[in-house]
Amino acid sequence: MDSIRITGGNRLEGQIPISGAKNSALTLLPCALLTSEKVTLTNLPRLADVDNFSHLLNELGGSTKVAAVKKGEIGRRMTIEAREIASTVAPYDMVRKMRASILVLGPMLARAGESTVSLPGGCAIGDRPIDLHLKALEAMGAQIELAAGYVKAVAPGGRLAGGDYSFPVVSVGATENALMAASLAAGRTQLFNAAREPEIVDLCKLLVAMGAKIEGIGSSHLIIDGVEALGGCTYEVMPDRIEAGSYACAAGITGGSIELVGARPADMLAITNGLAAAGLVIEMTDKGMRVTADKSLKPLAVSTAPYPGFPTDMQAQFMAMLCVADGQSFLEETIFENRYMHVPELRRMGADIEVHGRSAIVKGNAKLTGAKVMATDLRASMSLILAGLAAEGETEVMRVYHLDRGYERLEEKLSAVGATIERVSGG
Ligand code: UD1
Repeated sequence: MDSIRITGGNRLEGQIPISGAKNSALTLLPCALLTSEKVTLTNLPRLADVDNFSHLLNELGGSTKVAAVKKGEIGRRMTIEAREIASTVAPYDMVRKMRASILVLGPMLARAGESTVSLPGGCAIGDRPIDLHLKALEAMGAQIELAAGYVKAVAPGGRLAGGDYSFPVVSVGATENALMAASLAAGRTQLFNAAREPEIVDLCKLLVAMGAKIEGIGSSHLIIDGVEALGGCTYEVMPDRIEAGSYACAAGITGGSIELVGARPADMLAITNGLAAAGLVIEMTDKGMRVTADKSLKPLAVSTAPYPGFPTDMQAQFMAMLCVADGQSFLEETIFENRYMHVPELRRMGADIEVHGRSAIVKGNAKLTGAKVMATDLRASMSLILAGLAAEGETEVMRVYHLDRGYERLEEKLSAVGATIERVSGG
């Protein structure tokens, strides 16, 4: 298994191009199941999760074609054509590899009248149930059965009716499944307390480009008037705000200055506010934004929350950065239980962090030293990379497949700004 080896201590300076958003890509791809026409997505990041999703679409009857990158075009361009749904079953072997496979449930049900998806099972960052996905679909008329580790959803008469659903807690994935399903329903659907993440806005924009009727885009009250059929289109995936935020933390922890080329600051206010409160200087540039750390970092108190709050997907990276801040920081994780798995590994590198349930106290002023550490999930892995960039000596981050799920060309991007980092092939 590959690992990443870093020799820490370099100040990072230069430009990093920001890729298309993973979490957006994973909800835009299943939209191709909603139409028999071609859907072309541009700026798709080159990530293991995107490859896995395209295999899943192939399994269900979609043909996917990846075009050679044209001059001047960033990311990948993929055309998906699902003329017919050949199978309405997303098997365990596929879903097991990628939890986001649950996002085919809504579109398959809406298009084919039925959909069977393996239950995703446990996950490293908590239980992550799918009850809200199912309840929202039930509110639109779906009949749902759970058997032998699979969820089977059927639309009586072959088409969902549409209906109202109020989410008891904000869920990104359940909002996405409901939106996709509602766009082809026979009537109106209203979603209350819907997620408002920029990736949800990206999904709504793609659906509208395909012919869907959605009001309230960007708000927590979405009104979807189902249409008979949706058509094809070409759509560009938004930039990855979490990747951009992660590299901003790389500037912070190394006392560096990085221009995040292609980043969209308007989607990242909670992140940039946090960076600014920690003493980093944020400047808008023609190409995106520049983040500079020219003095010691200040400690912070940060609590994760649904958008527009501080994203849970940035908690681990901020924690790594705050290990070297000048004083004690407080972090609270309100979205997922068990999302502090990076803490023992950071401690092995010299961090002083106490965890009390969902809260963590980061003592700050740590003298980080390189170590062999184990990645546990995607964002936790990035926190170890960040700590490695600032640590004295050599850090080896094992289980790099977590990083390959969400960070495109990580070593290349970080070496280009001065990091000493390489991938070591484990055979
Ligand atoms: C998505 C993102 C993930 C991010 C998370 C929160 C993708 C592919 N993943 O995950 O990177 O960390 O949003 O911003 O976009 N919940 C339920 N029942 C459900 C669904 C969720 O109780 O049916 C709970 C979860 O356990 C969690 C909370 O709701 O406590 C939020 O989860 P959710 O927003 O659904 O996260 P995902 O869509 O899985």
